[in-house]
This record gives sequence, structure tokens and C-alpha cells, in this order.
Amino acid sequence: MSRGTQKPERRPADDETEDDATADDPLAWTRGHTPLLQSYAEEARRERPFDGLTVAVASHLEPKTGVFIETVRAAGAEVLFAPSEPQSTHGDVVQFLDGRDGFEAFAEAGMSDEAFEAAQHRLLERRPDVILDDGCELIAKAHADHPAVASEVLAGAEQTTAGVTRLRAMADEGVLEFPSYAVNDTPMKHYFDNVHGTGESALANVMITTNAMVAGKTAVVAGYGYVGRGVAQKLRSLGADTVVTEVDPRRALQAHTDGHRVTNMADAAPEGDLFVTATGSRDVVRREHFERMASGAKLANAGHFDVEILVDDLASMATRTTEPRAGVTRYHLPDGRHLDLLAEGRLVNLTGPYSQGHPAEVIDTTFASMFVAARDLVERHEELAPDVYDVPDRLDKAVAERKLDTLGVEIETPTERQEAYAEDWRHEDSSF
Ligand code: NAI
Repeated sequence: MSRGTQKPERRPADDETEDDATADDPLAWTRGHTPLLQSYAEEARRERPFDGLTVAVASHLEPKTGVFIETVRAAGAEVLFAPSEPQSTHGDVVQFLDGRDGFEAFAEAGMSDEAFEAAQHRLLERRPDVILDDGCELIAKAHADHPAVASEVLAGAEQTTAGVTRLRAMADEGVLEFPSYAVNDTPMKHYFDNVHGTGESALANVMITTNAMVAGKTAVVAGYGYVGRGVAQKLRSLGADTVVTEVDPRRALQAHTDGHRVTNMADAAPEGDLFVTATGSRDVVRREHFERMASGAKLANAGHFDVEILVDDLASMATRTTEPRAGVTRYHLPDGRHLDLLAEGRLVNLTGPYSQGHPAEVIDTTFASMFVAARDLVERHEELAPDVYDVPDRLDKAVAERKLDTLGVEIETPTERQEAYAEDWRHEDSSF
């Protein structure tokens, strides 16, 4: 099924404006919920920082990314866009943008893994000047398969944890050809997007897909990083009994002191009604765990790649599979138990039949950070050797300030006396 193509019945409100015309424009609602991106787009239309550049965007092609692509175009770029995950593309978004002046899609809804790979290669053959990536797939492919293209790219930016890990591995190996910003690592990205955006959207999709209650259930969260913490906090606030598994002692301790039970997956397996993986690693839930799970346990992945739940193990254990609900694959095991895998083990908040990704207000800051990072690197790329760089704090703070402006939230300004106090490390001034 190609998702996002069904247009809902709509009754226009009396006070409806052009921006509310969602039936014809799949980005209209999102534009109305991304004031920060709109403000950067307005500025970019005047300043045109990407004039003459071809910018590649690889991300989940749903309405929020559509609005980001519009922002990059507003800055003057020719935008080539491809999915970062073959199953998360919304066909109506691609159709809406593709072929308009300055936009070209290398995507369609419901792509096979092979078609996804081929589309990314075709995009790279168009020799983009800048690559804005989600998962580092496009950047990695450029280096592995299109070295002449990679050597001419001016700058890159990466928005997710798994992608930054890959990007840093490329830099450590000395193969990275251009300066790149680790946008995922900015406070404005991971405090909001990973914790709250993924936390809310992953659970929303688990609940809609299963139509099952969370309250009173035992929920096992694998990984207590930014994503896992958000998922676990929100599960508990809905009334679940939360269990966390971790490999990092400090994060395990953090989960413990945050009030979650901490154990290993072998012990958690028989207890869980719901399992959510968020580790960025692989094979986190596998045969030895499936063997111990209760019948009816539900399995969902919130990590970037579909390798956290070892689906091959499930498939080899099962006598047959059925699809009792859209987005749920039921594995029937020889001992009579069944286990329900959501969204085929892919990102549950982005690839299930009801998935809409993060709330727009959260992605507003993520894509604003990507935009600001790209604009800065386009200006400064000649000063920087190929490497992975943290986004300068001044840029991150500026995004936060503008977001607060859009929310109408006022903050304190330190007084002169407060600033002097902070600098007076001897505490010599008796007036303090
Ligand atoms: P993180 O690095 O902050 O946290 C991952 C945690 O998993 C770490 O604490 C690590 O010690 C733990 N871990 C690693 N292997 C483990 C194992 N075998 N068992 C238990 N714990 C293990 O990363 P973050 O930001 O929380 O991201 C996690 C994943 O989620 C990444 O793949 C990231 O790309 C993805 N992500 C997904 C989003 C979505 O929309 N679904 C949004 C943002 C990130």
C-alpha cells in the first residue's frame, strides 16, 4: 500500500485560509506547524545563500521533510531528494514536489530495497554540492561507489545518531572527503527530537497499530540513550511497568535512578508484553529471547536500522506468518505461541501503515538546525579540512532563541551584576 496518498474527507471551516487547504497540498498543515522553518525560509528567500548550488536531501520523505526541502529551495538551491528508508516515503509528498521548478525526486512510495539503492546512486550521479543526510547512507555511498563525486562535494550534515556514528567512523579511517556537521549531537536536536519526538511518535504508532492498552503492561525498552529515555518515560507516564536493558553502566544507572527496573534481555524476555528497541546496535532481541517470550508479546523498533530485532531468527523459528492487522506480522511458533512484529522491525514511528513520524513542532527545530548548519558550512567550507565537526554553539543557541520567539516565550537576560559575579572567580568584590 502506498501510504499518505489517501486524501481525507474534509469540510472547510468558515475561517479557513489558503494555508489550511490540505486536500490539495500535503504540506499545508505542516507549514502551519513549523514556524521556525517558515521564518528561515522567509529570510532565505531574501538572502539566497544556496544560489547556484545543488543540494541533496536524504531523509524520510513525509510532510515535514517536504517543508524542509522547500526551505532549502527557498535558499536558492536546486534540490535533489531521496528517501533515507525505503518504506517511509509518502507518495503524495513526492508527487507534490517532484518536477516543480528546482525540485527533483529520486523516490516513490513503497520502494523495494533494490529500488531505493538504485535511486540513491542515480541521485549521486547528478553530482550534488552539498549532502544533507539521515543515517549517512548517501554520504557513505558517495564515498564507496562514487569517489569522484565525493571528492567534489563541498559540505555535508547528518541528522541522526546512527548516521553520526558512521560519519565519525569514516573520518577516523581518514576517508571522509568533505567537512560535515554532526547536527544530531546539538542540544537542540537530541534533547527534543530524540527524546520527545521519537518518544511520542513511537508510542503513538504502537498504540494505533495494535489498538492495545499500555497502562498496566510490562514494557521493555532496549537502550537508555536519548531515544530510549524518551520512550521509557512516556511509557511510564501512560501507566506501564517499565524495564530497561543497557550495555553502558552509566546509562543503566541513570535508568535505575529514574525509577525503571534494569536488567538484561534474557531476564526481561519472559516478562514483557511490549518490547521497544532503541540502541543503534544490532541483534538486540534475538532467538534466545524469542524462545522465552510470552505468547502475544509485541515487538517494535525505534532505532534507525531494521537490525535491532533479528527478524531472520523469528522467520526461521516460525511455522508460518499471518497479518492480523495492518502493520503487524504475526510469527506462529511450533510450540503454539505467537509473537507480533510491528512495521517489519523497521522504524515504528516512520514506516508503519499509520506512521506519521515525529510531531511537526519537534522536527521544526531539527530541520532548522540542519538548515542553519548547511548554511554555515556553505559559507565556511574552504576554511575547514574534511572531518566531522560539532555545530558551533552560537548557531544552536540562535535556533533556540528563534524557536522561543515563535512560541512567544520570554526568558531572563542576566544583569550586569550577575555577569560580573559569574566572572569574579576570586569572589573579591565585597558588594556581592
Ligand atoms: P544513544 O547513543 O544516545 O543511545 C543508544 C543507547 O543504547 C546507548 O545508551 C547504548 O549504551 C545502548 N545500547 C547499545 N547496545 C545495546 C544493547 N545491545 N542492549 C541494550 N542497550 C544497548 O542513541 P539515541 O540518540 O538514543 O538513538 C538510538 C537509535 O535511535 C539510533 O539508531 C538513532 O539513529 C535512532 N533514532 C531514531 C529516531 C526515530 O525517529 N525513530 C529519531 C532519532 C534517533
